[in-house]
Amino acid sequence: MIQVRDLVMQLSSGRRLLTILDGIALDVEAGEVCAITGPSGSGKSTLLGLLAGLDRPTAGSIVVAGAELTRLDQDGLARFRRETLGYVFQSFHLIPTLTAAENVAVPLEIAGVPDALARARELLDEVGLAGRTQHYPAELSGGEQQRAAVARAVALRPKLLLADEPTGNLDSATGAQIIELLVALNRERGSTLVFVTHDEALARHAGRSVRLRDGRVLNGQL
Ligand SMILES: Nc1ncnc2c1ncn2[C@@H]1O[C@H](COP(=O)(O)OP(=O)(O)O)[C@@H](O)[C@H]1O
Ligand SMILES: [Mg+2]
Repeated sequence: MIQVRDLVMQLSSGRRLLTILDGIALDVEAGEVCAITGPSGSGKSTLLGLLAGLDRPTAGSIVVAGAELTRLDQDGLARFRRETLGYVFQSFHLIPTLTAAENVAVPLEIAGVPDALARARELLDEVGLAGRTQHYPAELSGGEQQRAAVARAVALRPKLLLADEPTGNLDSATGAQIIELLVALNRERGSTLVFVTHDEALARHAGRSVRLRDGRVLNGQL
């Protein structure tokens, strides 16, 4: 599902050139659950953003679901994100003026899925939020907001789900439930999951974990 080779990401900060990712190689098979761990500033979010085609690397190759992302133009990247990818953020990113069901319906409506709102309610049921479909984000707990965000991310059945510190704003018990939900959805749907965490206990929910430090992979492939 993912083949990353010799990935380098540099940014200029004033006159200095910062090397954020320094020759990353990463392979994730279809269906696999992979955790990316490492201290703050080690490049985890940068790597995830590159896998999502949100940014372009300085050098190297990123193949996701058969597409070489570095060769796609902006339209191609937008189509790749729409058709292949789901993304879960640390801070949920729900639209505050929409109910949980309306939030989950957004990608379905954009894709022209009939009965988007009814489908959204089914998805909320699947993530354990059947009783909360009419609630606004501010009326939901952090864990409930993240469940709604997960339902939205998987609404169009993406082959690949990326989650950047999805438990970062949650207590550890709630965080573990969110990781369990992501892993269960991954298994049921046969999709691929890559999640970032700096919690080693959560990383153990993955089949495999890749540890970054200073923009490099520490443990290589297991
Ligand atoms: N747009 C940017 N400009 C300058 N430095 C950045 C930028 N984005 C990330 N960095 C730096 O790159 C390093 C890795 O960042 P990041 O990928 O966010 O790490 P992590 O998610 O592991 O905490 C950090 O030192 C961060 O300060
Ligand atoms: Mg980060």
